[in-house]
Amino acid sequence: MRAVVHDRYGPPEVLRLEDVERPVPKDDEVLVRIHATSVNRSDSGWRSAKPWFARFFTGWRGPKRRILGGELAGEVEAAGASVTEFAAGDRVFGAIGFGAHAEFVAVRASRALAHMPAGVTFEEAAAVCDGFILAFGCLKPARLEKGRRILVYGATGSIGTAAVQVATHLGADVTAVCNTKNVELVRLLGADRVIDYTTEDFTKNGETYDVIFDAVGKHSFRRCRRSLTPGGMFITTDGGFMWHVPVLILLTRWFGDKRVLLPVPEYTKADVLVLKELMEAGKYRAVIDRRYPLEQVIEATRYVETGQKTGNVVLTVAGESGS
Ligand SMILES: NC(=O)c1ccc[n+]([C@@H]2O[C@H](COP(=O)([O-])OP(=O)(O)OC[C@H]3O[C@@H](n4cnc5c(N)ncnc54)[C@H](OP(=O)(O)O)[C@@H]3O)[C@@H](O)[C@H]2O)c1
Repeated sequence: MRAVVHDRYGPPEVLRLEDVERPVPKDDEVLVRIHATSVNRSDSGWRSAKPWFARFFTGWRGPKRRILGGELAGEVEAAGASVTEFAAGDRVFGAIGFGAHAEFVAVRASRALAHMPAGVTFEEAAAVCDGFILAFGCLKPARLEKGRRILVYGATGSIGTAAVQVATHLGADVTAVCNTKNVELVRLLGADRVIDYTTEDFTKNGETYDVIFDAVGKHSFRRCRRSLTPGGMFITTDGGFMWHVPVLILLTRWFGDKRVLLPVPEYTKADVLVLKELMEAGKYRAVIDRRYPLEQVIEATRYVETGQKTGNVVLTVAGESGS
């Protein structure tokens, strides 16, 4: 089968398409024929081994896992003897961490994999799991419900577009901060108010929020803290490798009435099932910026690494167009 492989850490150019052996599913695994996958910030982090501690997971001297690709949508080609949840021909989607930049992948059936939501294309299904699970997991401590006010900073990224939809679904009052060109999109995703960061600084308008979610890791507790209500939370997605964020997490746990959190959510089947339900109910949609064929993985990765994609970037496999 064809797969995108890499044998050393480095820039997008270390990726190359190669013929590799098709995996054989074990008893508790399914073999998935991949129709679409994505390129996201985690793929970039694993490939470049940045931040440095990524090497604890991906291999100290070089990549242990040659094939990247954390999200997938496709069809079950074969199911192992002990698998009862899936059968050949089932359409599935999920977040598996590695291995999806290929024509086939073998995945344990118990992992974050579920039947695809009805009425959704392979491309859409491949573009939703990572952002949703990270946003949903990061927002769990925020106890969002009707009457709680949240500001989502970086509302146009993969995690940001998911966060706006999750917070809206939970009934919170949502203010989204983004660039001029995406104001309309973010409104369509459900934001009650949108602040264009090119014309307004939300930290200076006197408004306060129960939760400020920095979905893109570009803001700071220091600058935001006066925009938080007493008891408020600053939740960030990034900064674990900058010394001050872990220190702030500890300090705000014991001192003051505002907290800093940096959750690191796990991919779970339960969360994929929640997402499936929301999509089928029309309460969550995929936001896809660009689509590339698998062969153009380097171009797709370069685009992701501009840090300016809107939502998600999809890779289509074997010329699939999505339906
Ligand atoms: N906590 C975890 O477990 C975890 C896991 C994976 C990733 N992450 C982190 O989560 C962060 C977000 O990832 P992502 O994939 O959602 O990012 P992304 O999709 O690459 O974010 C890109 C978006 O961010 C917006 N943006 C860029 N700079 C901005 C700024 N200064 N102010 C406001 N918006 C800005 C861009 O819009 P404009 O440029 O048009 O404004 C673009 O739409 C990353 O830092 C990543 O390292 C965390």
